[in-house]
Amino acid sequence: MSNPSETELIHMFKGIPFTTRSSLELLKSLDTFDAREDDVLLGSYPKSGTHWLAGVITKLYNTPITLTSPIEFGDVSKLEELNKLSSKRIIPTHLDYNMLPSNFKNKNCKMIYISRNPKDTAVSMYHYYRENPHLPTVDTWTAFFDLFLEGGVVCGSWFDHFLSWEEHKNDKNILFLFYEDMKKDLPKIVKEISVFLDIDISDDDIQDICTKSSFSEMKNNTEKENSDPSHTVCALTSNRKLIFRKGTVGDWKNHFTPKQNLKFEEIFNEKMKLSKM
Ligand code: A3P
Repeated sequence: MSNPSETELIHMFKGIPFTTRSSLELLKSLDTFDAREDDVLLGSYPKSGTHWLAGVITKLYNTPITLTSPIEFGDVSKLEELNKLSSKRIIPTHLDYNMLPSNFKNKNCKMIYISRNPKDTAVSMYHYYRENPHLPTVDTWTAFFDLFLEGGVVCGSWFDHFLSWEEHKNDKNILFLFYEDMKKDLPKIVKEISVFLDIDISDDDIQDICTKSSFSEMKNNTEKENSDPSHTVCALTSNRKLIFRKGTVGDWKNHFTPKQNLKFEEIFNEKMKLSKM
């Protein structure tokens, strides 16, 4: 953050950096949120494939649903706005599991968490930071790499985020997914999601959803989409080109130096000691 106006883009809440687009009043009031039993929560660390997952899920339903912007995004009126929605709500969030409004847990709401190789996540986030005026300037990949590993980026440490959700991986109301598995065999994952959400769907419909959810289809359709930030997963930009960048596995190899890779692996192994994956 090189000048005061950029400092104003980020503030801290419970030790985690948030953009100031998430007001402190909203963050403080999240726990009062009145979750409904049929809410579906989409959890992710930024740049893990949230839009892709949301694209698949919204195509699965043939009953009215509303895909909202992330619950932590906006000012204090956000919770009231969500309460006014009469249809089933699909609610994305980049919150750490421990920061989720407790009603989601008490009411056993279904939650789908998507994760991605943190090296690719870091690269995706770097490009997002570089192109997005709502985020602090990062001068170089090297600077961003260090910031990511320190947990100084929006939503904090990838490791803490992942571990907070992983602890609940086997909870009955949670489906844990990986971006790389979606790339490998999307129909299989769509089937898994449909079973989890109790949606009856034919193999032909699954195939159709997969075709419509391919990277190129989603990217090409972005212009036609509703770009109202209150109804998009990424409320930080209405520039859809920032969301659909490359959509590949392994782009980190084009960015990481061998030394950075070594450092990343060391920190990964240390932080993930407690992980069962
Ligand atoms: P890249 O920047 O590596 O291209 P999120 O939606 O959580 O912000 O994640 C964005 C990342 O998901 C971007 O990664 C984007 O290209 C990728 N993505 C979005 N839609 C996709 C799709 N249909 N297939 C594969 N990747 C997709």
